Amino acid sequence: MELPLFESFEIGTIVTRNRFVRSATHEGLADPAGFYTPELVRTYAELAENEVGLIITGHTFVSEEGRASRFQASAAGDGVVELWKIATEQVHRRGGSIVLQLAHAGGCAGDPEQAVGPSEFRSSPKKNPCRSASRGEIQKIVEAFASAARRARQGGFDGVQIHAAHGYLISEFLSPFYNRRTDEYGGSPENRMRLLREVYLAVRNAVGRDFPVLMKINSEDFVEGGFSVKECAEVCLTLERLGLNAVELSGGIPEAGPRRSPVRLPEKNGAEETVYYESAASQLKSKLHLPLLLVGGVRSIGTAERLVGSSLCDMVSLSRPLIREPGLLRRWHYEDDFPAKCVTCNACFRPILTGRGFYCPRERSSDCSK
Ligand SMILES: Cc1cc2nc3c(=O)[nH]c(=O)nc-3n(C[C@H](O)[C@H](O)[C@H](O)COP(=O)(O)O)c2cc1C
Repeated sequence: MELPLFESFEIGTIVTRNRFVRSATHEGLADPAGFYTPELVRTYAELAENEVGLIITGHTFVSEEGRASRFQASAAGDGVVELWKIATEQVHRRGGSIVLQLAHAGGCAGDPEQAVGPSEFRSSPKKNPCRSASRGEIQKIVEAFASAARRARQGGFDGVQIHAAHGYLISEFLSPFYNRRTDEYGGSPENRMRLLREVYLAVRNAVGRDFPVLMKINSEDFVEGGFSVKECAEVCLTLERLGLNAVELSGGIPEAGPRRSPVRLPEKNGAEETVYYESAASQLKSKLHLPLLLVGGVRSIGTAERLVGSSLCDMVSLSRPLIREPGLLRRWHYEDDFPAKCVTCNACFRPILTGRGFYCPRERSSDCSK
């Protein structure tokens, strides 16, 4: 008998082949201008070949000042579309679905001279603080998200995901930890949600009602005075009413520290599998009707089965396990149910920083016990 995990699922017009998502993962494989490279195309083709139900691309920058890092893919100009078509065609040919993640890094942008956030803050002690975005700049950013979404549709993507998590621009506006504004974009939860609402509506207007729009959002920031689960539920309900197609629940901002950041390190070596946002998911699932994707810490098929089987979420998202084992879902489907080999050490970030693109150094090393 087929496990429900390997049955198809619908998000608007997207029909996935199973309930697994490759959560957005910055691959560090675009060229210096942000164009897709053959290696990045091959990465998506490999994930589709290995039966990932829904691939969410690494974050793409919607405008230059919102660019997070070198080798990040661009969504900021029409020139990217033809190369996207090659990638999306490769994924579709293998029975996969692919959604483009749209992002603005806000105060965490790579170029501190250009970085804008809701208010001034330092993303690192070594960097100058970002500027507080003017109303005019906010409107330009809203338009940049909309233009990028329109391009995504032209490029053959099956949908877009708005990155509203992890201390990037939209998450910064949502969070009272970063957002100290006194105008209509700061203060009350409704005001802090205004940027996201405007981005969502502009994106929806650009792509039409039949094109899936997803959102990744923090369940909470995990810092004192940060965005809370209660506020997250309010935001999700508001966007659900406006026609959002699915929510992916994540959590944490850089200031939350290594054990509560979006890419948590385990409490100790060999610690048991922990589903990071399970409690938040149970609170949200009872309130929301739209599909819920849950990311963070899932390392075994038994856990994925339990989460979907108990209706805590509709799809299970994985990031680091698929870096180490792009063939993990095929293995779980046809071979064995040993847990993912990923040990959640974050070594996969190192090659990205030196321009080699993401991979698991443990997997490539001859000594896999390291
Ligand atoms: C190398 C790397 C790059 C990531 N890039 C992104 C990204 O571009 N956008 C995003 O929303 N999350 C990004 N994440 C976070 C993951 O999507 C995911 O939320 C997090 O790793 C927790 O899931 P996991 O325990 O399955 O790895 C990244 C994670 C890693 C390890």
